[in-house]
Amino acid sequence: MRLIVQRDYECAARWAAEYIANRIRTFHGSGRTFQERDKNFDPDRPFVLGLPTGSSPLGIYRYLVRFHREGTLSFSRVATFNMDEYVGLGGNHPHSYRRFMWDNFFEFIDIPRQNIHLLDGLASDPEAECAAYEAAIASLGGIDLFVGGMGEDGHIAFNEPGSSLSSRTRIKTLTPETRLANARFFDGNPEKVPPTALTVGVGTVMDAREVLIIVSGYRKARALQACVEGGINHMWTLSCIQTHPRGIIVCDEAAADELKVRTLRYFRRVEGEEIP
Ligand code: GLP
Repeated sequence: MRLIVQRDYECAARWAAEYIANRIRTFHGSGRTFQERDKNFDPDRPFVLGLPTGSSPLGIYRYLVRFHREGTLSFSRVATFNMDEYVGLGGNHPHSYRRFMWDNFFEFIDIPRQNIHLLDGLASDPEAECAAYEAAIASLGGIDLFVGGMGEDGHIAFNEPGSSLSSRTRIKTLTPETRLANARFFDGNPEKVPPTALTVGVGTVMDAREVLIIVSGYRKARALQACVEGGINHMWTLSCIQTHPRGIIVCDEAAADELKVRTLRYFRRVEGEEIP
């Protein structure tokens, strides 16, 4: 696992956006790297990106849109799968994750509409919806890079504390803490936050060839410490990233506040920083 500590959120978002952009740019070209080792690699398939919502990825989307506007990045051969969606919210609901993605990202890039995949919060058969989502991911050859955020309790997507670390896409009941944390998007009222959501599983995220998580702010510091320095634990579902062969966490200094000095020095040295 790589831990990239940046001065502030802006720098962390920029780092993540540049990483994603480079992966997209090199995927179909000669710069292809570890995909070459995958015997089943189909050069005609799109680069498959897993995407999150929430405030953490907003800066990343801003930079990716900027790169696109500057003409240095195209999404014409990219397919996306979003992590999650509230049950009961239609795509046009102002607080649905589908709306969020169009308002903050898809509207401003050249991704073909049919390459965008989002779970349907109004699906009449949620189980079938989730199974079809997993099948759609598999049919495109799996996810190349899953980008994510982290909840204050260490959750990834909506895999709340206690979720199975091998879980697949399914319906989950949200904890009161998550509804409280997300109430800011629902007039500050946790009662208005839907009680359930469809979400990719921890296993779905861990199956991606690479995982990149962005974490910022003091309120995430405790969870980041548990996920990086603690053991792999279903009560902090992001801790699973420790087992991933290509897992990266990029965070700001505030989020790294609870990590041991020794831990920080180690990861900074790994990244080539001169540490006395
Ligand atoms: C929700 C989402 C997660 C996200 C988390 C943190 O629970 N399901 O995918 O990582 O919120 O959100 P924020 O980035 O706004 O702190």
